[in-house]
Amino acid sequence: MIGDAALVKMGLRDPLIEWEPVLPPVPGGTSRQASMHTIRFDGKQPGSADCEQEISLLAASAKAGVPLNHRCGGHARCGTCVVTIAEGAEHLTEIGAAETRVLKALKAQPDQRLACQAWARGEVLCKY
Ligand code: FES
Repeated sequence: MIGDAALVKMGLRDPLIEWEPVLPPVPGGTSRQASMHTIRFDGKQPGSADCEQEISLLAASAKAGVPLNHRCGGHARCGTCVVTIAEGAEHLTEIGAAETRVLKALKAQPDQRLACQAWARGEVLCKY
């Protein structure tokens, strides 16, 4: 089996991009604290991440070992990180202007979010 590093070296896989997310506003407060919650991913390679604090779905996917695409590095520009929220949409931060612009360009469904822009503070199930 070929590892991730070999695939990157061969140009068959993007290297893990160091990214700095564009944080959406926290409705009703400034705290990003949350209680223990699990972010689950259902797709080609299912996984889950237990999180103690509010976390972006993209960061949770990395923690869970789930290979979500994120070509722009989490800056709400590419739309490759789009996921469908199957459960727990009420535990996500509100959609900001940058995310709205990308979702509109993608003609996304109402239950879809950008994993790099949606931060979870409770149980969420994403399909990708
Ligand atoms: S990683 Fe590009 S829009 Fe989310």
